[in-house]
Amino acid sequence: MKITMIGTGYVGLVSGACFADFGHDVVCVDKDAGKIAAIEAGRMPIYEPGLDQLVASNAAAGRLTFTTDLAAGVQGADAIFIAVGTPSRRGDGHADLRYVHAAAREIAGALDGPAVIVTKSTVPVGTGDDVERIAREARPDLDIAVVSNPEFLREGAAIGDFKRPDRIVVGTTGDERAIQVMRQIYRPLYLNQAPLLFTGRRTAELIKYAANAFLATKITFINEMADLCEAVGAQVQDVARGIGLDNRIGSKFLHAGPGYGGSCFPKDTLALVKTGQDHEAPIRIVETVVQVNDLRKRAMGRKIVKAMGGEARGKTVALLGLTFKPNTDDMRDAPSIAIVQALEDAGAKVVAYDPEGMEAAAALMPGIAMANDPYSAARGADALVLVTEWDAFRALDLKRLAASMNAPVLVDLRNIYPAADARAAGFSLTRIGDRAIAS
Ligand code: UDX
Repeated sequence: MKITMIGTGYVGLVSGACFADFGHDVVCVDKDAGKIAAIEAGRMPIYEPGLDQLVASNAAAGRLTFTTDLAAGVQGADAIFIAVGTPSRRGDGHADLRYVHAAAREIAGALDGPAVIVTKSTVPVGTGDDVERIAREARPDLDIAVVSNPEFLREGAAIGDFKRPDRIVVGTTGDERAIQVMRQIYRPLYLNQAPLLFTGRRTAELIKYAANAFLATKITFINEMADLCEAVGAQVQDVARGIGLDNRIGSKFLHAGPGYGGSCFPKDTLALVKTGQDHEAPIRIVETVVQVNDLRKRAMGRKIVKAMGGEARGKTVALLGLTFKPNTDDMRDAPSIAIVQALEDAGAKVVAYDPEGMEAAAALMPGIAMANDPYSAARGADALVLVTEWDAFRALDLKRLAASMNAPVLVDLRNIYPAADARAAGFSLTRIGDRAIAS
């Protein structure tokens, strides 16, 4: 199959490289000439484990090419995927569909024959109808089918998620040719047992939002349980295990922490809330999830101040991890941003270390100092806070860290350090949802 991918952001680049790796012929198109040149030179625009090798090997095999010329890129394509950004619109939280609409118009204008246009960007229910209308208006002479095929990739695990998905969702309006093209494209995957689920187009669009909102709700549920555990003297990790072993609940996405962040959950929950309100079918549970999660991030700042005895003025707080989760350099809606703001408001100085996120973080938070490694971050600090659970932080020498600090206070927002080890190292420890052993 010949596939054209419009947009070389996270979704477009990973999906394009993976399709090529399955033997399809893929052209990736992006307006940003600098980005295309960098990718061609082997420099990836995002940090994603394994992506540079995957791009390099498929480009070398001639199956993966890059261009800024959309018109040339769509010639002869069996399917054209739209994987451009859908940021939250400033002011109202709706998804901004400007780039999706523009891509639809441009693709249709450049087509040289009948085609299947596939929206892979996360788009609100009904966007497929817009894309179809725009494309048909631009090219009444052509047979154009529009399909929805949402992605469920996690940053940091995107290649594995693409190649071994729990399911593939394809939403159509029943067009037989489109269904056959999508079957061909995903054949290598469903031969690997991945269920290929065909639904209506609006249904597919909604599945993506429903999945992300459900996961965000699960996280928020356990986060509120963590607060209750702290209030009543219980341990949230055991609560999560105790409920997660029930197959109907499942153990994943039950890790209490500082609140969810990233490029998807905050944006998609907000967009679903807006869609519900617009259609007079409010999703109140998700409205609450959004509020609770927003408040939680800043509350983590207060938790740190409390761990330092209630006073932060003139003190130094060292943060380990800044990105919204490990194995990414993505700072979008990272809890660290609200935490730093709260600490600075309370008069503290912040020093931080992150394996991949320091460049992006420095641009967002000019007030903080960056350290070269965890040990230099901790030196002389009044509190050490584990914000993001990078593997490289798991085996740190806690004794050495505690001994180098002004006050050996450890706030573990991801519960990765065994309490006994932290205590033995001389730390006073604060965890999430665990008052019983918090000092
Ligand atoms: C998510 C979805 O998982 C993916 O299917 C979708 O396509 C895009 O959004 P991603 O944002 O990359 O992927 O990260 P994910 O691993 O899901 O984590 C999201 C946030 O939730 C992070 O801030 C993470 O720290 C937090 N989280 C996750 C928890 O706090 N607890 C958990 O148990 C799981």
